[in-house]
Formats: sequence, C-alpha cells, structure tokens
Amino acid sequence: MSFLFNRLRGMQDILPPEGDFWRKVESVMLSCAEFYGFSFIRIPILEFTELFDRSAGDSSDIVQKEMYTFSDKSGRSVTLRPEFTAGVLRAVVNELSGNTVFPLKLMYFGPCYRYEKPQVGRYREFFQFGLEIFGGSSNLADLEIILLANQILLELGIGDFNLEINAIGCSDCRQIYLDEIRSFFGRNRDSLCETCNNRLSTNPLRIFDCKNDDCKKISENAPHTIDFICENCKTKFETFKKFLDISNISYDINTRMVRGLDYYTNLVFEFILDFDGKPLTICGGGRYDGLSKSLGGPDLPATGCAFGIERLIKLLHDKEICQNIQNNGIVYVACIDEESKILAVDIVCKLRSLGIKSDYDLVDRGLKSQMRYANKMGYKYVAVIGQEEINSGVIGVKDMSSSEVISFKLSNFAEEFDKFLKN
Ligand code: HAM
Repeated sequence: MSFLFNRLRGMQDILPPEGDFWRKVESVMLSCAEFYGFSFIRIPILEFTELFDRSAGDSSDIVQKEMYTFSDKSGRSVTLRPEFTAGVLRAVVNELSGNTVFPLKLMYFGPCYRYEKPQVGRYREFFQFGLEIFGGSSNLADLEIILLANQILLELGIGDFNLEINAIGCSDCRQIYLDEIRSFFGRNRDSLCETCNNRLSTNPLRIFDCKNDDCKKISENAPHTIDFICENCKTKFETFKKFLDISNISYDINTRMVRGLDYYTNLVFEFILDFDGKPLTICGGGRYDGLSKSLGGPDLPATGCAFGIERLIKLLHDKEICQNIQNNGIVYVACIDEESKILAVDIVCKLRSLGIKSDYDLVDRGLKSQMRYANKMGYKYVAVIGQEEINSGVIGVKDMSSSEVISFKLSNFAEEFDKFLKN
C-alpha cells in the first residue's frame, strides 16, 4: 500500500507477531543475566560526540564513517550511540561514590546506530543486549561474561557456535606489537590500499579489517599478537584458557582477532555462527581496563560483551527455533449482539482480575470471523455468548485444540472457569 512516508534505509519495523517474538528473546536474555547477578542499566541514546571519538578511537570505522552525528540547538556536537560500552562507563563513573559496591555487574538492551552499508545482519539501527562488569581485574570476570553469553545462547536453543579468543596485550606490550606491525606493513606499503596506507600512521591494527584482497593477503603474513605479549599477559591468558577448559567451554584461538574498537586490552573474544554460509559474529567483547583512565576517570578495570539482536533473531528463525511464538491467549469471549457485548465486557474484566488472559471483539465482527481471529491469535478456548446463552443461563466454551465444548453457568462464569483451569 502506498503511503507518504517510508522508513529510513537500514532500519526495521518489527510488527506482531515478530514483536512478541523479540520480547520473548529479550526476556530469556534478561532473566538469564539476572540469574547470574546482573542488574539492568538504562542510559540515554544521545551522548556528546567526543565520548565515542575518544573511546572507539579516531581511526576506527565507527568514528571515521559510521556515526550519526549532528549539532543540537546549542551547537554542541552530539551522536546517537553506536554502542553502549562508552555510555555505560560514563554513567558508572559519573555516579561513583564511596558507597559503590564492586564488582558492578550490569546488563542493558536497546538500539544502536551505525551508518553502515545495509546487508543481511547489518543494519543502521540495530539492537544490542550487553553485559559489563566493572571493578574486577581478575580474569574470572571475563570468564563470568563468557559463561553467561554461552548460557544465553544455549537457553535460546543455539548450540553450534564457535567461540574465538585472542590475547592482544596490555598497555605496555601492546605498543611493542603495534611498532612491530607498523614496521611490517611499512615494508609492504606499496601493495597496501590508500586507506591502509593512512592506517599505518593512525592505527595499523585496522589493516586487519580491510576487505581489499591485496591487503588481506599481506595481513596473512603479519606478526601475531600472541608472540609479542609480555610474560604477565601470557600467564593470564594461559590461566584463562584453563578456566574455560574446566568450565567445559570449547574455543579456538584466533591470533588475528583485534576487534573494531580501540579500547580493548588483554582479552578479546567473539561468538561466531554460520550466517547464510558465511561466518558472522553474533556476540563480541573483551577487556577494556584502560578506558576509564583514558577518559579522565579513575582506574577502573572492566570487561564485557554485546549481542546483536537482529542476527540472533534471524538465526532463531533460520533454525526454526521457537517458530510458533504468538500472542497466546487463554480465552476469547465471542459475542453476537449488543446485550451479549455488555456481558462479554463484564466477564473479561472478571477473568482479567483473576489473572486469566482474555479478550473480546473490538471491531464489530460477525461470529465466524471472531472465531477465525481467536484461532489465529492462538486462543486456547472460545466462549460464545448470544441470546440462547442469556436465556438458558449456560455458556459453552470450545476447546480449540480438541473442539470439545464444556458448559459453565453464565452467572459466575469467571470463577468457574478459573477453577476449571486450575484442575
Ligand atoms: P561490536 O562488536 O561492535 O561490539 O558489536 C557487538 C555486536 O553487535 C556484534 O557482534 C554484532 O552482532 C552486533 N552488530 C554490530 N554492528 C551491527 C550492525 N550494523 N547491524 C546489526 N548488528 C550489529 C560492541 O559494540 C562492544 N560495545 C561490545 C562490548 C561490550 N565490549 C565490551 N563490552
């Protein structure tokens, strides 16, 4: 149907029953995280641009080309969040007091904005569910994040994922590695694309993300992070692997994984799944111990991850998991004329006050079409009220799966029906 307005490219409308499906997925994630002791945080969608410039990094794709940035009415540069981590950290540091209890285990859910080329699993508005732990420098905090992310995927019925991990070094040894790859790529600069030549001076790590075939080929022979990390980082990584082993979490080490945000140190990881024949990251994260200090805050070790919800939902559909999620109601009260409508209102109010999910016709449909609607919406039972029921004082309720009809007294239908459901 034509309409004056369409939605923006790379953005989606999620209508029912898909919206109900989203809510169920969200609620599985939230309750899983709650079970692991995480609390919910809500932060603004809009932040000062500098927060993202300084956290994601000037040379990152996000800052270079993907942010929705504009001036507000006071002329300040503001940006729709491209991710949550920097905003969550800002909120935590702003509210820190002597009473703050660590570790702070936080979860969030909401939209993010990146002006990317839309394609399957890549949108300009997309939702993230994320987890952050502040105040824990032990790699048990990283384990906690991975255990929970793993649990969430299993709870949702997704088991065939690959967990990839990498050690990218602390603030000291990372510099040694950066110097090493800068000189490696420098020796190959004539074969690198123009963007990667610029990346040589800004952040050579970004060369690993380049899609250009020549750059990809050169990257294959580049030094590996793991060969340059200090003894302390090596020991931490070894212990972390032992934690994963004891928790029965299988993983691969991907020494090329650097992630697209500049704030990571030490450990990075991604949960990867097959997406229409191509590997795609469904959840990514890592440790970012230096971010708070680099933004003028206190020394605050932190680790976390975020899931891309659109990717998760597509996988659930592709795998036909939770296929028939509908707005399942218990009883639909169909009515035939004005007098039965009044009774239907009374009955539905009483049913709802007893906690029974019920509904009635709002659009003056005929009886047949009310039955079709109830069926489509997944109602288990349909009660029909017309003159015959009013005269006899008896109401028939049809069990929609067996077609059996059960009779109830009209005068105290809600209470009787409640007893029937509880038996
Ligand atoms: P990220 O890897 O940029 O990390 O995003 C996390 C997840 O969001 C990705 O793995 C992907 O599933 C999803 N995602 C990213 N961009 C898009 C897009 N354009 N369309 C659809 N889905 C997308 C972060 O954002 C970090 N803040 C994660 C983190 C939390 N690290 C530590 N704590």
